[in-house]
Amino acid sequence: MSPGRTVLITGVSRRIGAHLAAHYLARGDRVIGTYRQETAELANLREQGLHAVKIDLTDTNALSGLIDGIAAYTNRLDAIIHNASIWPSDADCARQPELITQLYQLHVTTPVQLTLALQHRLPAPTHDERATRTVVFLTDAKVSAGSDGHMHYLASKAAAESTMRSLAIRLAPHTRVNAIAPGLILFHEQDSTEKRANRLTKNLLPFEPGAGVIANSLDYLLDCPALTGSTLTVDCGLHLLNPSARD
Ligand SMILES: NC(=O)c1ccc[n+]([C@@H]2O[C@H](COP(=O)([O-])OP(=O)(O)OC[C@H]3O[C@@H](n4cnc5c(N)ncnc54)[C@H](OP(=O)(O)O)[C@@H]3O)[C@@H](O)[C@H]2O)c1
Repeated sequence: MSPGRTVLITGVSRRIGAHLAAHYLARGDRVIGTYRQETAELANLREQGLHAVKIDLTDTNALSGLIDGIAAYTNRLDAIIHNASIWPSDADCARQPELITQLYQLHVTTPVQLTLALQHRLPAPTHDERATRTVVFLTDAKVSAGSDGHMHYLASKAAAESTMRSLAIRLAPHTRVNAIAPGLILFHEQDSTEKRANRLTKNLLPFEPGAGVIANSLDYLLDCPALTGSTLTVDCGLHLLNPSARD
């Protein structure tokens, strides 16, 4: 994707979303980023030119306001990155069953509604028979292997992968739709040294990759005009070494 375009990224307040927003702002793109919480990363991104929109993406009534705001801000939209996510354990879901609904809302229903409503409001044309918009879902490398601790989370990410393929069919030829399926990208601050070391033994490439590898992967998906309906697995070889690796 050449610089100077407009990119929508959900969930830019921290970690991977914040890194992606900074990456595209540094390239000279206009970035619209959604957030819920004010963070130091968000303040930095605003200084770099982020157009920040506060929204809870599980609130379906709020979506029309987001779409109106985007249409008022730009008349072109080159990329939509569905990054926002929650990662509740099955124990969390047992205690708070509403989390299961929120998983599907955040990972499937809202991305579909947003993608289709934006196509209606800001239609992506084709140019020289090529797509001019790219949509990317952040899913998870473990959707095929399953998990004994995050069944509901993974099921919602599997649904997102299927949705990605259906949207690729529906929106061709003007829009390409793909997914990145990350394995371990970033540890959480609270992860112990022992947990980190144990987790790394499950990868063929035993290091913490960091959010930069998601930016690398996204650049490729945005730049390659022949890719649609594809999933790029970015998991340091987890799927080869240990297909049923546990969390
Ligand atoms: N990090 C990894 O190693 C890894 C591994 C596999 C897959 N992934 C996938 O990669 C993506 C990014 O991962 P991450 O680790 O950076 O995620 P993260 O730290 O959990 O951040 C998720 C983002 O989603 C936003 N969000 C959560 N609920 C929301 C809601 N209801 N409405 C609006 N925004 C909401 C959060 O915003 P607030 O903080 O403002 O609430 C936050 O900015 C996710 O899709 C994740 O599933 C990551």
